Amino acid sequence: MAHVWQGVINEYKDRLPVTKQTEVITMGEGGTPLIQARALSELTGSTVWLKFEGMNPTGSFKDRGMTMAITKAKESGAKAVVCASTGNTSASAAAYAKQAGMRSAVLVPEGKISMGKMSQAVAHGADIIQIDGNFDNCLEVARKLSESYPVFLVNSVNPYRIEGQKTAAFEVVDTLGDAPDIHVLPVGNAGNITAYWKGYREYAQETPATSGETLPAVSTRTPAMWGFQAEGAAPLVLGHPVTEPETIATAIRIGNPASWDTAIAARDESGGLIDSVSDVEILEAHRWLSSREGVFVEPGSASGVAGLLKKARAGEVPRDATIVVTVTGHGLKDPQWAIKGAEAEDPTAAEPKRVAFDVVSVASALGLE
Ligand code: F0G
Repeated sequence: MAHVWQGVINEYKDRLPVTKQTEVITMGEGGTPLIQARALSELTGSTVWLKFEGMNPTGSFKDRGMTMAITKAKESGAKAVVCASTGNTSASAAAYAKQAGMRSAVLVPEGKISMGKMSQAVAHGADIIQIDGNFDNCLEVARKLSESYPVFLVNSVNPYRIEGQKTAAFEVVDTLGDAPDIHVLPVGNAGNITAYWKGYREYAQETPATSGETLPAVSTRTPAMWGFQAEGAAPLVLGHPVTEPETIATAIRIGNPASWDTAIAARDESGGLIDSVSDVEILEAHRWLSSREGVFVEPGSASGVAGLLKKARAGEVPRDATIVVTVTGHGLKDPQWAIKGAEAEDPTAAEPKRVAFDVVSVASALGLE
């Protein structure tokens, strides 16, 4: 029988902190497509793949960590979870909490999360608190709340989130047969770059399994990790926190990443880099992905591709390499940018032609002869 994907915990349980007794809370997350990026490959002279994380149940990579965090919250008897979020974590926490029969509270920066993400938290019945502040302020309150009240914190400062998210690196290796030369991704709170690096390292060495036996190395090498922040929210590039982060890519509008040290370690241990891209570059990459590769992502998700394009322009992308770029969230999360991007190229693009109910008129409108 064909293998039906069971979600990241069941697929990788030897490598995750669960036991046979653990009740797994899953919605079948992970197993996301690795898509060949033909235009990016042509441009760079390398083979470029897109790990399309928008294909997860709530439309972003957060589901990989959330299945793990909510499973452990449930195992510990928690009745409620809390998170700070720029939108995707809250959408995921709200959905997985429902699966587990738990309550969720989400703290979001007022006016700075996209409608798509907000609608998910609303739909799943989360208690939504808008904070008059940015993501970093929300996270500070969420942490304190979880220290003093009976709520389980499911931000990526919770190590179970990182454990779940590392499975994306496993999938890349399982699909390609080895690790790529370079792995590129957006960086915000820096949990994901931390998680990928952990996953790649574990797959490149013998690892003790949860069951006690020793798992052999799966890959022969680890990639260089290339992370990209938005220019107005690039604390890791500047080397100090940014008190008022600003970018149109609200997903990564973060000034003081919680996983700061582990992101720097991922960069340095892997021989990689963390750089920044402007909002204009992010929107260019967003448009590139939808109009040339057929992949629809939200703006923040395009910052890895923006970085790759920037490095390619500077002649800093090696040829004949294997490069994987994670695109972290679905375009339907924040669709307004697609319309704006298309209009910028062609003012009539977002205005579909109106034609009579008649095949000849439709053919003529399409320029068919
Ligand atoms: N891409 C998207 C679409 C995101 O939502 C985030 C983070 C990132 C990239 C950056 O990942 O934080 O692990 O470095 N979103 C968080 C949230 C902060 O609340 O949804 P990171």
